[in-house]
Amino acid sequence: MSNKTIKIIDGDTEAEFPLMEGSEGPATINISSLYSELGYFTYDPGFMSTASCQSTITYIDGDKGILRYRGYDIEDLAENCTFLEVAFLLLYGDLPDASELTGFEDHITHHTLINENLKDLFSSFYHDSHPMAVMTGVVGSLSAFYHDEIDIHDPFDRDLAAVRLIAKLPTIAAACFRRLRGEPFVYPRNDLDYSSNFLRMMFAQPTADYEPDPIMAKAIDLLFILHADHEQNASTSTVRLVGSSGTNPFAAVAAGIASLWGPAHGGANEAVLNMLTEIGSVRNIPKYIDRAKDKDDPFRLMGFGHRVYKNHDPRATIIRKTCHEVLAKLGDHGDAQLQLELELAMKLEEIALQDEYFVERKLYPNVDFYSGIIYRALGIPTNMFTVMFAIARTTGWIAHWIEMISDPNLRIGRPRQLYTGPTERVFKPANDR
Ligand code: SDX
Repeated sequence: MSNKTIKIIDGDTEAEFPLMEGSEGPATINISSLYSELGYFTYDPGFMSTASCQSTITYIDGDKGILRYRGYDIEDLAENCTFLEVAFLLLYGDLPDASELTGFEDHITHHTLINENLKDLFSSFYHDSHPMAVMTGVVGSLSAFYHDEIDIHDPFDRDLAAVRLIAKLPTIAAACFRRLRGEPFVYPRNDLDYSSNFLRMMFAQPTADYEPDPIMAKAIDLLFILHADHEQNASTSTVRLVGSSGTNPFAAVAAGIASLWGPAHGGANEAVLNMLTEIGSVRNIPKYIDRAKDKDDPFRLMGFGHRVYKNHDPRATIIRKTCHEVLAKLGDHGDAQLQLELELAMKLEEIALQDEYFVERKLYPNVDFYSGIIYRALGIPTNMFTVMFAIARTTGWIAHWIEMISDPNLRIGRPRQLYTGPTERVFKPANDR
């Protein structure tokens, strides 16, 4: 904590506001008494300069391209951990020892089943529903199954809700995929690791044995690690704001899924592949770069730019490298379209990063730019890309929810506004208007 203050002088009135320093990153001005002392609100749409909370979970330095979960660099975690090891770190603050990891894996494994009655809910969705719409509805419905079993002020119940969500999201995601293809659900198995279980629930067919490809399972596990958390992004802030009212954590996570779906956020990975398909050829790239720069054209280069990273997104760097490794390991996938998409993406990145518009605005490829290509290589359809993001980010969402709900100083999130509407008007009955 700092003993420095920031003074605001307003005519013959002045007030001092304490500076709060964290362990890393910019200090903050505690302005919670600004309105009571000076009668002003602050104005910061999009929260460009606003810290909404204190957190010990994830640190990002956008200028240096640093991302750390509980102090560990994302590169080290990606290189050395499994997703459940990272989930343990995000939830409990430290990396597990061998027995803690085994216990956590076992706990997650024994919560992967979903209530059989959910099959009726899945079957009520139209065959061409977007899987994110199904995910939002089904995860929100978990509140109905567990509403009476959770006391959000009981650490045991909070932890059980976290384990249930982390364990069940892959089962729900795979069920979305199968339902929309008219295929039978595949139950999880206790003898498979988290990502292999997910692959089997996605792709096994009742007509033949299915052995998850270890290369594909490792690639998915890595992508889950990279997408697990990211400070106070839009969907995490959504979960915190919704959760601050004391609602059920399943409902709060469903709100996070809804926020993630947007193309400016987690929906960008699907939008990148759709953009690459629309561009279609390297010779069309300059035309699309021009469109992205044209203020009168709503087109943006999907997968480029970031609110925080004004340097390379470290996740994009790892994913680009993994892209090449996965495609090389999977061998001749024979998918000419996939090869074209990868070549297009690399050329698009090369051209954009030489263009003054992107350089001046520090617009680099973000986590969503290459992830879709790996998902495509793994046989995951484009409309399931953001579902993959939601599986991973559920761990970050629930870790932030627990951090918020456990805070004895928690207050409901209720921002104010700058009102620009009509001042008082005299009411007239309809006949007199
Ligand atoms: C994620 O917050 C997180 O941490 C998110 C995330 C996570 O892990 O949770 O990292 C995941 O959401 C990654 C971002 C995925 N979104 C996209 O790839 C969509 C395309 N990108 C943009 O929509 C945009 O860059 C955002 C939404 C990501 C960031 O928007 P900002 O911070 O509000 O930036 P901005 O819109 O103010 O842009 C600044 C300038 C503007 O130009 P000027 O007004 O200064 O002339 O850069 C331009 C923008 O027009 N710009 C782009 C652009 N992104 C920004 N121009 C063309 N193409 C783009 N992609």
